[in-house]
Amino acid sequence: MPRILIVDDEPTILNLLNKILVGQNYEVIPASSGEKAIELLETEKFDLMISDINMAPIDGMELLHKATSSYPDMGVIILTAYGTVATAVEAMKQGAFDYITKPFKLDELVLTTRRALEYYNAISENKDLKARLEHKEHLEGIVAESPGMRKVCDMIERVAPTTTTVLVYGESGTGKELIARALHRYSPRKDETFMAINCAALPAPLMESELFGYVKGAFTGANATKQGLFETAHSGTLFLDEIGSMPLEVQSKLLRVLQDKQIRKVGGSDHTEVDLRIIAATNEKLETLIEQGRFREDLYYRLSVISIDIPPLRKRPEDLLPLIDYILRRELGPDADLPSIDHEAQSILDNYNWPGNVRELENAIQHALTFARQGMITKDTLPAKIVGTVEEGIRSGIITSRHDRFKGKSLKAFLHEREREFLQRTIEDMHGDKEKAANELGISLATLYRKLPPKEKN
Ligand SMILES: Nc1ncnc2c1ncn2[C@@H]1O[C@H](COP(=O)(O)OP(=O)(O)OP(=O)(O)O)[C@@H](O)[C@H]1O
Ligand SMILES: [Mg+2]
Repeated sequence: MPRILIVDDEPTILNLLNKILVGQNYEVIPASSGEKAIELLETEKFDLMISDINMAPIDGMELLHKATSSYPDMGVIILTAYGTVATAVEAMKQGAFDYITKPFKLDELVLTTRRALEYYNAISENKDLKARLEHKEHLEGIVAESPGMRKVCDMIERVAPTTTTVLVYGESGTGKELIARALHRYSPRKDETFMAINCAALPAPLMESELFGYVKGAFTGANATKQGLFETAHSGTLFLDEIGSMPLEVQSKLLRVLQDKQIRKVGGSDHTEVDLRIIAATNEKLETLIEQGRFREDLYYRLSVISIDIPPLRKRPEDLLPLIDYILRRELGPDADLPSIDHEAQSILDNYNWPGNVRELENAIQHALTFARQGMITKDTLPAKIVGTVEEGIRSGIITSRHDRFKGKSLKAFLHEREREFLQRTIEDMHGDKEKAANELGISLATLYRKLPPKEKN
């Protein structure tokens, strides 16, 4: 039975929380102050802490810090007073799973609690998943040989069974929709609807009525009541592609759907419950849009409870050949003989930087198949743009082929260079957080710094 620590200095709220959660068959341990909570945290183990933020002298933020640093497997939900969203957002930045504003609705508390437990349970049950994945079949239809893509698949396996909202980030053509569909396919909702909506393709004035529906007479032309896409996708998965293009007014409405699991049709007054798993995708950094005032920060934190970053193809050379194989097989069928790729063509494919990622690779391979003769993919069969870009790169010295780069070097120099590449890539994977990178690499931060070239150290 999951154990939940609840912390609030207002006895009435503490009692209410207790009653609701006990009613859901959780084991609930109440603490009437921050100090009591710390004592309990130090002596007992909990799956989740639900804490008020506004307490003295030890407040919810301090408890949150203690929890994230000492008990990373325990989820934290923060209770805030209505109208203090900024604090709530700050709490999510600091690692809280979610927040609930007071006065809260019973449903909201129950749902958020369930989601948090589900999520942390998925994470801890799968701690050894990385090791198991090494021996495991890949997820169907996703080529993932590189460490970066394996991590993506690992995340899919962990979060697919939950109802947690997921934000998928990746440059264009990296496979965002593929990942979203996999999240649906490996979830308990797999037999329900998967609905994809491209926010950039829907004209802003229509978006609200498309998503939420409208009642008869809501506006000129609304001759009959119409169901919106949120309702159509009920009990399934809703994929909101290019979420960065969603107008601000629609963003606030979406935020409310995420909070209350209810929608209201345009021009209507009734609320309809919707049960949706929401997956959003973007190829723009939402952080930048937030700075520009084009995206709501609170929505960002709600959407990105889990975020999956798909690395661009140029950062995962290990996937290139397996992807080419996969695409050839898909194009030609399971029994066909696959064409071979000559050395020159191979070198061009290796050295190109694939700004259009896997989609561009698919197009290049289709192009090559159209022009291939005698089962051979040669330089002449590849799109001229790709060949031209690589040749120009080599002429101007931007590209040195992998072989040339290491030619004439001692083994030590070679290993040294590969080591640096690996360190830098891990730091990038950790979004520049060197402490996390050192952790991941199993070395101390000091060792990491020692191994980096001087300009990378700050
Ligand atoms: N790891 C992969 N394994 C197999 N196929 C892949 C992989 N990644 C992408 N693809 C294929 O590449 C194509 C592009 O993928 P998808 O449409 O999911 O990308 P996207 O990020 O949504 O692109 P866009 O930004 O253009 O919308 C699809 O045909 C998809 O099946
Ligand atoms: Mg897409």
